[in-house]
Amino acid sequence: MASSTAQAAPTRYEAETSPAVCSGTIDSNWSGYSGSGFCNGANATSGYAQLTVNASVSGTATLGVRFANGTTTARPASLVVNGSAVQALSFEGTGAWSSWATKTLSVPVNAGSNTIRLSPTTANGLPNIDYLDFEIGGGSQPPGGIVGWATQAGGTTGGAGGATVTVSSFADFRTQAQASGARTILVNGMLSGSGTVEISANKTIRGVGANSGISGTTLNIEDMRPANVIIQNMNIRGVRGNDAIQIESATHVWIDHNTMSSTIENDPDFYDGMLDITHGADYITVSWNVIRDHWKTSLVGHSDGNASEDRGHLRVTYHHNWFNRTFERGPRVRFGETVHVFNNYYSNVNHNSASYAIASLMDAGLLVEGNAFENVQQACWSASGYGESDPGRLVARNNSLTNSGPCETNGTVAPLPYNYTADNVSTVKSSVTSGAGAGKL
Ligand code: GCU
Ligand code: CA
Repeated sequence: MASSTAQAAPTRYEAETSPAVCSGTIDSNWSGYSGSGFCNGANATSGYAQLTVNASVSGTATLGVRFANGTTTARPASLVVNGSAVQALSFEGTGAWSSWATKTLSVPVNAGSNTIRLSPTTANGLPNIDYLDFEIGGGSQPPGGIVGWATQAGGTTGGAGGATVTVSSFADFRTQAQASGARTILVNGMLSGSGTVEISANKTIRGVGANSGISGTTLNIEDMRPANVIIQNMNIRGVRGNDAIQIESATHVWIDHNTMSSTIENDPDFYDGMLDITHGADYITVSWNVIRDHWKTSLVGHSDGNASEDRGHLRVTYHHNWFNRTFERGPRVRFGETVHVFNNYYSNVNHNSASYAIASLMDAGLLVEGNAFENVQQACWSASGYGESDPGRLVARNNSLTNSGPCETNGTVAPLPYNYTADNVSTVKSSVTSGAGAGKL
């Protein structure tokens, strides 16, 4: 599967080319360099080299640093990304100043521009630095990294920087999820619980393998701005009478590569929402999930009367999700703008004449692009309103409708502030059905 969001090949940034900064001199007296020279940093702790790189998405990037150290003493340095030291390095001797070697490193980066500084930690200074190769993504399937609203206003990193713990009982899961501080929680096995787990800030919750997850409990992300929570690779079941995931007055959440499923009962209220986003929640990306066999799929904005809290917020990106037999609210949005729904695959949203995929209501603004709808009763509602709710705005482009009712459009919506690439809709069904859900990371 082609990756639309990853950079396919590394980009080379020469140490002698602005906006790179060399705290020393740009030299060309030792052969074998690329470009027009290399950075010979001052032999002092102040003699740094800094490159500015551009990342198409946030995530973990691979760096290749080409260097020469003609001495026999390794030169240690600190790797500083966007002003924060992330790793200690050591540049061993290469045998000669004209013998160049490449050191490969992994670093976290934000989407957009990032500074990467090599800062020597002894008075010997740095080795000579030729260039930095930078790559993020790389095309292994499925694409990694966050796209969309969760990258904005500081981004979403979950438990990055904290400890990693593995839990295999529901009690341990609850304890870890509710503990304060950054943490990556690996969920091992299908853990069944009850009540609500109040996830605290700066957490990544990630299932182990294809068959781990949570049932019987509401995962609640509430009253944290930012929450900075990532939920990934989990099997999540609908909860009788309650939401499965509830994001309420919380920002910066990434829901990625989960399989969320229920059963179709005669009563649409047997389960409540699968993924509900309410009370001015903001900066959320929902990507590469399978959501199936559920009625009240994803509500964004819970009430027609909640404009004062919700207007200007509820910014959510849904991309590359597979909605199968989700009979309403995929999503149903009030007030939020711009909610971006792209490259999703909707199938069999056709339980009865009221079934629909997407609704924009109460002056919400939705951009619906490059989605494949197949056997969907009504792809989108907007100008007509829905239920008691007034119309919202909706711009549709490049969608495909197969045996499906129309995607109703209405008016214009605000432009999106982030970079993304929408796949051609002809590839969406196959990329989403092969890449979405738990077990695909
Ligand atoms: C020599 C060499 C430089 C190098 C320096 C150093 O002067 O010519 O290219 O930068 O040693 O020790 O850092
Ligand atoms: Ca030097």
